[in-house]
Amino acid sequence: MKFLRFSDICASGQAQGKRVFIRADLNVPQDDAGNITEDTRIRASLPAIQLALGAGAAVMVTSHLGRPTEGEFRPEDSLAPVAKRLGKMLGREVPLISNWVDGGFEVQPGQVVLLENCRLNKGEKKNNPELAAKLGKLCDIFVHDAFGTAHRAEATTYGIAETAPVACAGPLLAAEMDALTQALLEPKRPLVAIVGGSKVSTKLSILKTLATKVDQLIVGGGIANTFLLAAGKRIGDSLAEPEMVREAQQVMDIMKARGAEVPLPVDVVVADEVSILARANRLSADEVGPHDRILDVGPKTSAKLADIIAHAGTIVWNGPVGVFEYPQFAGGTKMMASAIAHSEAFSIAGGGDTLAAIAKFDIANDVGYISTGGGAFLEVLEGRILPAFEVLAKRAG
Ligand code: 3PG
Ligand code: MG
Repeated sequence: MKFLRFSDICASGQAQGKRVFIRADLNVPQDDAGNITEDTRIRASLPAIQLALGAGAAVMVTSHLGRPTEGEFRPEDSLAPVAKRLGKMLGREVPLISNWVDGGFEVQPGQVVLLENCRLNKGEKKNNPELAAKLGKLCDIFVHDAFGTAHRAEATTYGIAETAPVACAGPLLAAEMDALTQALLEPKRPLVAIVGGSKVSTKLSILKTLATKVDQLIVGGGIANTFLLAAGKRIGDSLAEPEMVREAQQVMDIMKARGAEVPLPVDVVVADEVSILARANRLSADEVGPHDRILDVGPKTSAKLADIIAHAGTIVWNGPVGVFEYPQFAGGTKMMASAIAHSEAFSIAGGGDTLAAIAKFDIANDVGYISTGGGAFLEVLEGRILPAFEVLAKRAG
């Protein structure tokens, strides 16, 4: 997919003295007192801002934070804590501007300001055309750098890309797209996908899309249990969706017809409850009793999955294979994380639980690319073209 890159625009000197509007995704988690608890997205947004400053642009940055009601300012919806953290990271003051849609604020070349939570503006969510027209007038160059929000078509993520004189992808958005393209469109094979999580139903379109592309589809968690049911196994009291068994069977059929496979667990770790105190038992996948709950894959399965991962050319990872939050059910996910870390394959990982597992098993430096997107990452796996890329490609002509 062709789109303009902000890095190219800067390299050719075209951002010098220009008003640059960066849409970042600074939607970070906060505690009840408003303290930022995790700042990956702020750090991931720095390169675009630094690029713009280095190129001599007057820089405006905005983001949404949460899902506030448009037109109703509440202090907890303010980007003030983000402005502070951003200022610290950039080593300079970042003024926060409210009520900015009609302009009237100062920003000189070499300066950066943060524009207050864009979801406070009336018409943002529905991409109101009058709002989009105003946003376009604020800048000479619009930079979309909000991958986490790339699946939304809102005024600051879509409308402004149509109305601004120039619209391009920032370095984060471009890097995400490049990594996803490498993993899904031009993968070195075998291509292995790992899809964990509780429900087949929420990830059905992902499973179906991946079934047509990947060489091995490793399923985990409640999804694996539903696949075990489809394969005729007894799963006792395990979390599963019996009504999705036909869909699971279809996925396995699509894979089989292509000579690809869904490697199902041959052994499992069970307990009678999901708790830190639960006593774990290892069983063959054929021995699961009526009151057992499957909470992880067993060691034989772990070894088999690790072997598949070791021989992969490309790995796409979304979701753990067990309840890795508790040590007695963490073995499968830990083994997989370690296999991914040691593999020479290009790996890409995304989604909240997956990022938590990466942090827990301390493999962040050994994963090829860690996506900042949750919903956006999943929609790409579904095979959708995200609005961000659609509009930027349109503007690139
Ligand atoms: C996210 O946190 O997933 C992104 O920032 C998008 O947020 P949204 O789901 O509120 O659009
Ligand atoms: Mg969210």
